[in-house]
Amino acid sequence: MSAARTSPPARLDVKRIREDFPILERTVHGRPLVYLDNAATSQKPRAVIEAEARYYAEENANIHRGVHWLSEKATASYEAAREKVRAFLNAASVHEIVFVRGATEAVNLVASSFGKNHVRSGDEILVTGLEHHSNLVPWQMLCAETGARLVAAPIDDSGDVPLEEIVSRISERTKLVAVAHVSNALGTVLPVREIVDTAHARGVPVLIDGAQAVPHRAVDVRALGCDFYVFSGHKVYGPTGVGILYGREALLDAMPPWQGGGDMIASVTLEKSTWNVLPYKFEAGTPNIAGGIGLGAALDYVSAIGLDRIEAHEAALLEIGTGLLRSVAGVRLVGTAPEKAGVLSFLLDGVHAHDVGTILDQEGIAIRTGHHCAQPVMDRFGIPATARASLGVYNTAEELEALAQGIRRVAEVFA
Ligand code: ALA
Repeated sequence: MSAARTSPPARLDVKRIREDFPILERTVHGRPLVYLDNAATSQKPRAVIEAEARYYAEENANIHRGVHWLSEKATASYEAAREKVRAFLNAASVHEIVFVRGATEAVNLVASSFGKNHVRSGDEILVTGLEHHSNLVPWQMLCAETGARLVAAPIDDSGDVPLEEIVSRISERTKLVAVAHVSNALGTVLPVREIVDTAHARGVPVLIDGAQAVPHRAVDVRALGCDFYVFSGHKVYGPTGVGILYGREALLDAMPPWQGGGDMIASVTLEKSTWNVLPYKFEAGTPNIAGGIGLGAALDYVSAIGLDRIEAHEAALLEIGTGLLRSVAGVRLVGTAPEKAGVLSFLLDGVHAHDVGTILDQEGIAIRTGHHCAQPVMDRFGIPATARASLGVYNTAEELEALAQGIRRVAEVFA
C-alpha cells in the first residue's frame, strides 16, 4: 500500500495479539491452525465474544421499547455501539449510521430505496468488473425492475480498474456509481477518493462497498466524501449478522423506508403510517442487538491496535507472501495491481484450486477456493476459480512460509 506517512507506524506485537483470539490456539487435523481466510470472515477476539455474552448474561431485553431498567440498559449499549461506528467512520452524525445484517443487506437497501426514488428506464448504474456479487446482483435486480442499465468499467490484466475506465463511463444517464474499496478476489485497492471527486463533479452520488477495506485501513467517510459506505461486522473481527450502511443524512432523509414493521414508524393507523426519524426509519423489527454491541467491541479492539499499524503489518506480510508464492514453481498470482490489500489469489499449474485447498486443509491451513462470489472476475481471467489466502492482523510470516511449503507439497502430490 502506498499511503504517504511521515514516520512508519510502530510494529505490532503479533504474538500478544494472537493471545486475544481463542480459536488460534486450536489444532485442525492435528496441526496448528493457520487461518488465512480472513476475506471470508475473520476470527473473533475475546473482547467481542465476551461483549456478546455479557449482553445476554446481564442486559438482555428488547431495545427502544421498554421503560424497564433492562430495556434502557440494552438500548444504551446498542446506541453506544452506533456512536462507536460513527466515530470509527468519522461520520457527521449517528443519524447516518444504519444497522443492517451486513454489507449485502446495505447494498440491497440502497438499491431498493434510493433506486425506487431515483432510477428510471434508460438510466445507468456504474460498477466495475471486480465487484463482489453483493455489489452487482442488487443493481441487476433494480435494472430489471426499472429498465435501467448496468455499466461495468473493465479490469486490466493486473486486476486493476484504471481510473479513466471509470471516469469515461460516467454520463448524464449515470444515477449512481457503486464500487468496491478493496476487491475480495484480487486485493486491488480502487482510488475511491478520486472516483468520488470525479463523480461528484458530474453530480453523481457514489456508494462504496467497504467490506474488504474496513478491517485493513482507516476509513474516513467525510474525507472520502462518499454518499454511501457499507461494511460487514464479521470481517472486521466482529459478529456475523450485523453490518453498517453509512449514508449522508440529506440522502437518507429523502429516501423511503425499504422494510416496514415495528420501530421504523412514528405512527400507525389502519389506513396509513408515518415514519420514524433517522436512522430508525430503516431499522424495522428487533435488530441483532448482541451483534451490534459485539461490533462496537470489535471496532474498539481494532482502534486500540490502530488501523495504520494493522495496514503496515499486512502490507509487510503481503510483500513477504507475494515473494514466497512467486518462488513456488507452477504458482501464478491472479491480481497484481500496484495498489493491493492483503489478498493472495493464485493458481497452481495442473491442479484445480479446490484440490489445493483440500490438501492444505489436511495440514491445518485454511484458505478459500472457488470464484469468491466474484464470477465476473473469474470470467475476465478465463478461469473457473482461484485459491486465495487472505490476511488479518494476527497472521505471521511463518504462516506464509507454511503456506508456501504446503503448496510445494501439493505440487509434489500432482507431479
Ligand atoms: N465475500 C466473502 C469472501 O470473499 C465471503 O470470501
